[in-house]
Amino acid sequence: MSKKIIIAIDGYSSCGKSSFAKAIAAKLGYIFIDTGAMYRGVTLYALRHGMVVDGRVDEAALVAALPDIEISFAYNSERKAGDLILCGENVESQIRTIEVSNLVSHVSAIGKVRERLVALQQRMGRDKGVVMDGRDIGTTVFPDAELKIFMTASVEVRAERRYKELIAGGHNVTLEEVRRNVEERDNIDINRKESPLRKADDALLLDNSDMTVKQQMEWVERIIDERTR
Ligand code: DC
Repeated sequence: MSKKIIIAIDGYSSCGKSSFAKAIAAKLGYIFIDTGAMYRGVTLYALRHGMVVDGRVDEAALVAALPDIEISFAYNSERKAGDLILCGENVESQIRTIEVSNLVSHVSAIGKVRERLVALQQRMGRDKGVVMDGRDIGTTVFPDAELKIFMTASVEVRAERRYKELIAGGHNVTLEEVRRNVEERDNIDINRKESPLRKADDALLLDNSDMTVKQQMEWVERIIDERTR
């Protein structure tokens, strides 16, 4: 029998981390955890509670409210992934708006927010058998993960993919708007003080600009086979 491991998938915005992580989890019968959804949930909370004024997050108010912000996942068999539950409410579609996307990098740069969510993520992966995607999984959340993958793709490819996803989801956006958001998020994620986005030294690099999901799966299946033996 193969041993259960932790698979950490990090990388830039919109390079297909979640789809890839979800496909791996389905293949292995592992739990898939989208940590970006958790940061989005906290962002939605801030928006709903008047903690965003003129596009700026009231950091002190948000940190003070952290004990009240309950974040969990409920498995959705249609999506084959967990929907984000914020204080008892399923907010999976509300956390994907451009409004939340524009603010989430600011919220995720707050040290106390990260501390709280990282602790929650570590608890979720305690028993292994998880595929977790985010920005700091291989560097901070699970520095000892048995398999770390760092994903990237060109900005053009990522903006195009994200744009198609949003349009399919009924959101009214332009490609230019999405591209700006992708670039701005990259910039904030790389340059923030707390757990900036960077490739862990022992992570495998996957540039999927010209790869199909099938090709990515073939690549990863060989590696998983080795690491779970
Ligand atoms: O994966 P995503 O685009 O849904 O993530 C939303 C934002 O959350 C992203 O801009 C950076 C932040 N994030 C983070 O800082 N750390 C993580 N582990 C996951 C996401």
